Amino acid sequence: MIVISAASGALGRLVIEYLRSRTEVVAAVRDPGRAPEGVPARRGDYDDPASLREAFDGAARLLLISSPELDTPRRIEQHLNAVTAAKEAGVGAVVFTSFLGAGAGTTGMTEAYHATEQAVIRSGLPYTFLRHPFYSDAFVPRVVEGEITSSTGGRGLNTAFRSDLAEAAANVLTGEGHLGRAYDFTGPLWSYPEVAEALGVPYREVPDAGPGPMSWINAQIRAGLLEQQTDDLEGVLGRPAVTVAAQVRTIAFP
Ligand SMILES: NC(=O)c1ccc[n+]([C@@H]2O[C@H](COP(=O)([O-])OP(=O)(O)OC[C@H]3O[C@@H](n4cnc5c(N)ncnc54)[C@H](OP(=O)(O)O)[C@@H]3O)[C@@H](O)[C@H]2O)c1
Repeated sequence: MIVISAASGALGRLVIEYLRSRTEVVAAVRDPGRAPEGVPARRGDYDDPASLREAFDGAARLLLISSPELDTPRRIEQHLNAVTAAKEAGVGAVVFTSFLGAGAGTTGMTEAYHATEQAVIRSGLPYTFLRHPFYSDAFVPRVVEGEITSSTGGRGLNTAFRSDLAEAAANVLTGEGHLGRAYDFTGPLWSYPEVAEALGVPYREVPDAGPGPMSWINAQIRAGLLEQQTDDLEGVLGRPAVTVAAQVRTIAFP
């Protein structure tokens, strides 16, 4: 039996869709009222260790989906609650949705992912780390007033769609040969000017809207930090990941 934590979120729901016809799945959710339909649900709140132990009981594999908590110390505490509960419940293996750079990164947005990976390793549980890039879903260019704009400096983005990352997670959870591995998942490299050119609309570089998470991400993109490429996602999917260019034609002209 496979338990999916944070199963009421967008990623968890997609993973369950991929898994439910293949194997027995249980959704662990903070609020049972938000549980996905069609699979059994258990209450599993990252802030409530006892609920996590019960939610993870009997799991051959656990997909530990990272918490959306923004406060890093609290997020680390939530993840470590889950790792401890997985150990106490005797889970067969933990698959953790981590983030690119978490292997080395001990500061900034990778800090909580790094701390969690280390805790999983220390727990002695068999594991797989799925290091995600940013989700393409949040970056798909839109044609507004006949043009595409961004503050990305025309640099490449290695984002991947949630649906591909969910399918890859389902493959790892049901497949063999993935234990003890850390996958650096990246999507096919793309840029805003390339998409504009493919759509035949002008591209214009604009200043950042102001301080905030998107400005921080745009600065990372302009510095070329999202141009890392690996074959890991394609390898686990057994096919190329969906490109932003392929999606944009339908989304940019709704
Ligand atoms: N790579 C990226 O670009 C990117 C972008 C956004 C997020 N993320 C990370 O990836 C994770 C999954 O993404 P997503 O799109 O599925 O996010 P999402 O749709 O926001 O879902 C977040 C999930 O976390 C659950 N949750 C919140 N607090 C919890 C707690 N205390 N205990 C247990 N569950 C709790 C939520 O439950 P409720 O339904 O009860 O609220 C929901 O199921 C996020 O949580 C975040 O860590 C990555």
